[in-house]
Amino acid sequence: MVPILFSMSLSRLGLWASGLILALGFLKLICLLVRRQSLARAMDSFTGPPTHWLFGHALEMQQTGSLDKVVSWTHQFPYAHQLWIGPFLGFLNIYEPDYAKAVYSRGDPKAPDPYDFILPWIGNGLLVLHGPKWFQHRKLLTPAFHYDVLKPYVAVFASSTRAMLDKWEEKAREHKSFDIFCDVGHMALDSLMKCTFGKQDGGLGHSRESSYYHAVYNLTVLTQQRLQEFLYHNDFIYWLTPHGRRFLRACQVAHDHTDQVIRERKAALQDAKEQAKIQNRRHLDFLDILLGTQDENEIKLSDAELRAEVDTFMFEGHDTTTSAISWFLYCMARYPEHQDRCREEVREILGDRDSFQWDDLSKMTYLTMCIKESFRLYPPVPQVYRQLSKPVNFVDGRSLPAGSLISLHIYALHRNSSVWPDPEVFDPLRFSSENVTGRHPFAFMPFSAGPRNCIGQQFAMNEVKVVTGLCLLRFEFALDPSRPPIKSLQLILKSKNGIHLQLKPLGPNSGK
Ligand code: HEM
Repeated sequence: MVPILFSMSLSRLGLWASGLILALGFLKLICLLVRRQSLARAMDSFTGPPTHWLFGHALEMQQTGSLDKVVSWTHQFPYAHQLWIGPFLGFLNIYEPDYAKAVYSRGDPKAPDPYDFILPWIGNGLLVLHGPKWFQHRKLLTPAFHYDVLKPYVAVFASSTRAMLDKWEEKAREHKSFDIFCDVGHMALDSLMKCTFGKQDGGLGHSRESSYYHAVYNLTVLTQQRLQEFLYHNDFIYWLTPHGRRFLRACQVAHDHTDQVIRERKAALQDAKEQAKIQNRRHLDFLDILLGTQDENEIKLSDAELRAEVDTFMFEGHDTTTSAISWFLYCMARYPEHQDRCREEVREILGDRDSFQWDDLSKMTYLTMCIKESFRLYPPVPQVYRQLSKPVNFVDGRSLPAGSLISLHIYALHRNSSVWPDPEVFDPLRFSSENVTGRHPFAFMPFSAGPRNCIGQQFAMNEVKVVTGLCLLRFEFALDPSRPPIKSLQLILKSKNGIHLQLKPLGPNSGK
């Protein structure tokens, strides 16, 4: 009797549970449909490429060449178009300077999708925060990028680069092309760890950093795939899939690395001698500021906030510069005449010295123009997203209400032929001072623009100049025609098959 009663109540419980799940699912569906309706109504005055009823434009976005697909759409829809990822997530995709200015000169918050997808990894750091908390953190961290702090980093960038170049010297002996992306990544991470996290010199590719590097690689790929796969937008579904579990495993590896970095610096701070050294420094580095200072209102960062900032800077500070340096070297290999001119300039600046000094960086005029042209054609961050906190009116009279989602397609903006004649042509003179004068300030946005621009842009520009200058002194770069890179958007601009280049050592007096 008891087992029968027990099994009856179990089956009733099962029925109730399935009913509840169905009801919750139904409620969720209604919410999603209402959201779709309001996003679609908001974008009424904008058309777009034909959409699939279920996938929207997601299938096109998943294809190789999706970045160039968007560029082809910009010819049909000159200012902006609707972009649907699945049935419920719709952005207004913009790529015109006045449109970009209308949104990006304001401080609207980041769009929940996709930034919420990276929260379990980088937490609520500067990249995703908004409102007073963002302002407070930005103010706290800005001094870490003061030029007095950046000055000594020139030597650090040079030392990490030399370690990479020594490795390349070995590889070049085989007279075969090789993928430079991964080596550049380890070098950029090493530089960042030394500059902002106080790592001591100890060579590239430590196993701890290697695992972190690979974890970040997986996290960016997985996040991009999650954005493009609408079923994965739902947390409940995502965490149940093998994809979601891989994401959590990679997060764990990244967090272990971050925790270790924080622990080591905290331990060093216990040491009275180390503390005195820090107090005597006029400018504190990024981690000193996070660990030691309190802002004017005496608000100290919680452990979670501190870890979020470390995770944010660790990711933003190396993956972006890796992409920037790798694509720049690809451009140099592709356009040897510009490569020669840059090398000549660097040789002239150095004279008989073998390392750069701070003042040299402002003399690298041609190299800087080539770097900017490479950022135009291969922006390391090709797409950024916002959610409007108030309505916006665009120059052509169209508008969007609060709550609308915006995707700024930096890659397409930089190929907008109304600003950039012959956009596919690599022409560094676009960035000569005469040609820059009069150009729309929102036409070139590799570091975004407005209040939420990149806090690390000066750090990044310095690093790219030092690293590429030294690379050009040591090697001649040529393409491997059998392995052209396949552009791939993984939050950051990467290549599906790496960036394979042939390197020819330039012999003595080459900046060793
Ligand atoms: C060539 C290299 C770099 C490029 C192209 C780049 C690009 C960008 C872009 C486009 C944004 C805006 C993101 C958005 O709106 O979602 C951004 C924000 C940010 N970047 Fe960079 N970045 C680079 C290097 C760095 C470095 C070296 C650091 C740190 C050391 C850094 C730290 C950040 C942070 C913390 C933010 C968020 C700023 C805020 O919202 O206040 N970036 N970056």
